[in-house]
Amino acid sequence: MRRVRAEILSTRRVGVYHSLTLVAPEIAERARPGQFVGIAMPAGRSFLLRRFYFIHQASRRGGWAGTLEFAFEPDGVGAEWLGSARAHQFLDVMGPLGRPFAFPRRLTNCLLVAEGHGTAALTFLAQELRARGKRVDMIVGGATEEAVFKPIEVKRVSQTVAILTGDGSLGTKGRPVEALPEMAEHVGAEVVYAAGPRELLRAVAEFCREHRIPAQVAVEERMACGIGLCFACTVPVVRKDGSGYDNLRACVEGPVFNPARVLWDRWMADIPRMLPTPPGGSPVVGSWPG
Ligand SMILES: Cc1cc2nc3c(=O)[nH]c(=O)nc-3n(C[C@H](O)[C@H](O)[C@H](O)COP(=O)(O)OP(=O)(O)OC[C@H]3O[C@@H](n4cnc5c(N)ncnc54)[C@H](O)[C@@H]3O)c2cc1C
Ligand code: FES
Repeated sequence: MRRVRAEILSTRRVGVYHSLTLVAPEIAERARPGQFVGIAMPAGRSFLLRRFYFIHQASRRGGWAGTLEFAFEPDGVGAEWLGSARAHQFLDVMGPLGRPFAFPRRLTNCLLVAEGHGTAALTFLAQELRARGKRVDMIVGGATEEAVFKPIEVKRVSQTVAILTGDGSLGTKGRPVEALPEMAEHVGAEVVYAAGPRELLRAVAEFCREHRIPAQVAVEERMACGIGLCFACTVPVVRKDGSGYDNLRACVEGPVFNPARVLWDRWMADIPRMLPTPPGGSPVVGSWPG
């Protein structure tokens, strides 16, 4: 992980999103799909914490040394401030953060399911999968046509694409997960990747468990430090031996998790995550199923 002062090379509007390209070779050359950056905000009470965004593109070569791009909806104070940033301004950026998606060694047919800005993370993944000779198909969506992130680029990086929008303004009316059963069968999905709202990730988890398809999901949990120090971002994940679960930090042990091991009910319920310290145990370890 690096912390750099990165110049904004360009800013763009992409539907409802703002997209920023930064000159950050130290981060770009290490960036992998599923990882994210933490952007420092200007001084001020509502700006105390960094804001975190998935890396959408990382160009390791070219005239501009190494650039990276991320995209966001300007719907909160931090993102609004970032949306007003201009080319040649400098940002304090930490990254790449988190554990990236793993690439399948033997399996070939990869189905990627994304909603909203999750598509930014998965288009990066699609490119890297294709570079490894994998077949990529995608299901993407958003509330409206404007909320479908870069549909033309999605078509460019995938063999077939299903687009769904909440209001039916682009593609079929509905949510991306609704197309999953048909698309998975049609393309012979062997691995599923997903990014987007928790409901989508949970539905993908259930589908893949039922159909015995390996899957990986990139979760979003509120973060404070972004580097594993504060335990603000924990997700309950069952241990490999099934003996219980650990509250894993999305910023260092995630954001990519095996969805079959996430305790979705527990994570989605608004419960206190810091459990009392059991005798001789870690303060962040709970018991199954609890
Ligand atoms: C790993 C990761 C990747 C993300 N990638 C993207 C992306 O590519 N594009 C994008 O638009 N958004 C992304 N988000 C969500 C984004 O970080 C928040 O929407 C953003 O921080 C909101 O900040 P704000 O100041 O605009 O909103 P405010 O509501 O003012 O935020 C207040 C505080 O809550 C936190 N917060 C609010 N909403 C969220 C949320 N959904 N998830 C996590 N923290 C939140 C903020 O970081 C901030 O500390 C990502 C979040 C995580 C954890
Ligand atoms: S945000 Fe601090 S540990 Fe993850």
